[in-house]
Amino acid sequence: MKRTPIVAGNWKMHGSRAENASLIEAIAAEFPAEPSAECVVCPPFVYLLEVSRLLRDAEVPVALGAQDVSAESQGAYTGEVSAAMLKDIGCAYVIVGHSERRSLYGEGDQLVARKFAAALARGLVPLLCVGEPLSDREAGRTQEVIARQLDAVLELCGAESFGRAVIAYEPCWAIGTGRNATPEQAEEVHRFIRGRIGERNAKIASEARILYGGSVKAGNASELFTQPDVDGGLIGGASLKADEFLAILAAARR
Ligand code: PGA
Repeated sequence: MKRTPIVAGNWKMHGSRAENASLIEAIAAEFPAEPSAECVVCPPFVYLLEVSRLLRDAEVPVALGAQDVSAESQGAYTGEVSAAMLKDIGCAYVIVGHSERRSLYGEGDQLVARKFAAALARGLVPLLCVGEPLSDREAGRTQEVIARQLDAVLELCGAESFGRAVIAYEPCWAIGTGRNATPEQAEEVHRFIRGRIGERNAKIASEARILYGGSVKAGNASELFTQPDVDGGLIGGASLKADEFLAILAAARR
């Protein structure tokens, strides 16, 4: 099964109007004429519209994603941003269930599943993050945690929903730590995720794109991306440097 890889940049709470403009300019200047992967950037909400304009003006084929979305469709939810609003301003993707949202803001599996459903209902591609804390890995509970996170979405939305979604495996202990999973560790979990979806729908499982995230940089991207079940990456820190991000994009090929 040939799956087009994706390299997505999660800018987190970084950037300014000036910094965003120079980052996009630097990415556009060296962007490959025939990229081997789909490329996405996920700036903070307040910059989405302007970054979308910058990308369009630079004529660079990079899709826009948000970092989070409300599970509700509209109404009295102060501070929230709906899937319809994201669609309205040109987002194609939205990250749901990032480990920072799960661990720092208490988002549970059910809420993440509802966010996933809200995104799908508005035609956005949810980028569902799953990943185990260090204590669970050390206790041998990695698969149990990943299964629980995945099953919440499978139960609410069905396996078919993964035909219109992307998964990112991001072990919590690898995020922002400089300690990436080894290619073997990543492949083992990616294979497990594909298998779990495959128990319900083999075709969807073989087509689903599963990205790796957690301390990906230019120097380790290739060895991670060449694993059979790794279909690109979700990149944090290294997505804020144009040369690193472009080198990671170049490493993603099938
Ligand atoms: P990192 O973050 O690349 O800085 O480790 C990845 C992520 O949180 O998506």
